[in-house]
Amino acid sequence: KSYKPCDLIIYGALGDLSRRKLFISLYRLENANLLEADTRILGVDRHDNDNAVFTAFVLKNLQEFLNDKIENSVWQRFSARLSYLKIDLTQQDQYLQLKAVLTPHTRVAVNYFAVSPVLFKNICHGLQHAGVLNQESRMVMEKPIGHDLQSCKEINDAVAKVFSEAQVFRIDHYLGKETVLNLLALRFANSIFTTNWDHNTIDHIQVTVAEEVGIEGRFEYFDKTGQLRDMLQNHLLQILTFIAMEPPVNLEAKSIRNEKIKVLEALRPITASNADEKTVRGQYSAGFLKGSAVPGYLEEDGADVDSSTESFVALRVDIDNWRWAGVPFYLRTGKRMTHKRTEIVIYFKQLPHNIFGDSFRELPQNKLTIHLQPNEGVDVQILNKVPGIDEHIKLQKTKLDLSFSETFKKSSIFGGYEKLVLEAMRGNPTLFLSREEIEQAWIWVDSIQDAWQHTNETPKQYQAGSWGPVASVALLARDNRAWEE
Ligand code: BG6
Repeated sequence: KSYKPCDLIIYGALGDLSRRKLFISLYRLENANLLEADTRILGVDRHDNDNAVFTAFVLKNLQEFLNDKIENSVWQRFSARLSYLKIDLTQQDQYLQLKAVLTPHTRVAVNYFAVSPVLFKNICHGLQHAGVLNQESRMVMEKPIGHDLQSCKEINDAVAKVFSEAQVFRIDHYLGKETVLNLLALRFANSIFTTNWDHNTIDHIQVTVAEEVGIEGRFEYFDKTGQLRDMLQNHLLQILTFIAMEPPVNLEAKSIRNEKIKVLEALRPITASNADEKTVRGQYSAGFLKGSAVPGYLEEDGADVDSSTESFVALRVDIDNWRWAGVPFYLRTGKRMTHKRTEIVIYFKQLPHNIFGDSFRELPQNKLTIHLQPNEGVDVQILNKVPGIDEHIKLQKTKLDLSFSETFKKSSIFGGYEKLVLEAMRGNPTLFLSREEIEQAWIWVDSIQDAWQHTNETPKQYQAGSWGPVASVALLARDNRAWEE
């Protein structure tokens, strides 16, 4: 068995996260025969529903959000696991109902908090009050874990009163993505990369997480949050730590987390005095995506027309340690960009000397590109001799190209949630964030937020469907570099 008999309890089962991500991931796990036969899924929310209505709701969601066909036999197995309980999460006594359903002495309860963090405290107290927790119980929590260091600490403190740190699983779904995990394999299982992964050979690194989507009806949440907190504080920093960390001694949670924290501690602070040169904030105006007109940020449903929240951010990040001295990391992420593209590009240094003559004076550098989504894969740009018997060697840029779907013959690659939900049920914390790590990330992000507040600059406009504000081009141009396009 991959894990012990388990009850997955989803608080906020009718909410956005459950609808868009959790049920789909659980169904995919079922489809891949990765859910143990005795696993139960209990949806908890405050609306009146019975099991049948809830099951119909889940099916409707799958029909809406799952791209693949729903197999009848898989659905039969999956739906048999589902049940529903109505609990107003703010009412402590209502949690007593869980007593009749959960049996903590024989089954592990994985409590998935898929609700706003304002309810985390209530759920913790409710569960304690109902007496349904034991040493083996776990809690899974979603970002946003706070909006700054202070609020993050408050949430962590409240949770720590009920769950020990070993029972807490903080999700960042990017850590479940195949290509992010593959960074471990690329870096630590291949000597050509292991030995060429520092300031001696690498010139600079770019990480782009471009999204096509806009605010998706979440203006209220997003406007208080902004792209720096919504995407960079978590997803991009996690990618950065996987690229930059020292080799962990093994793949245990403790070893990996320790190395990641060291990277976060070494991030050079961005302050009011250098924010101008190192950061770009943007906000999209109306434009076109795939030929269709889309509104600007300030014209979205429910928008505050005076909002100066950023929907795009680009940064130059320096890591002050031995390995990365002098190697800038350029990070950018934005909503309503040309298309969805998440990739890491590692640019290697120019060779010190060129023996191929004047026409190749500016030989392109080698480049390793890791495509996170879509079309997961890895390619390396090299220079190759053009075949022929010409007098002089002619060079041409070519690619060593590895597409995951072609090479591994997998028609679809799991998204991040499948892996992480399964790991939470297995009780393996390796891919989840420790308290220390997430608080360290906030310390650095808070300094940027403070710097922006200090300079009080409004975000630069960029047209929806573009690659972001012109100023983000200038960010790299200042260092004689350009974004990968
Ligand atoms: C979420 C953010 O964490 O990640 C969203 O809150 C964003 O704003 C999403 O759109 C992106 O996830 P993915 O997996 O589609 O890249």
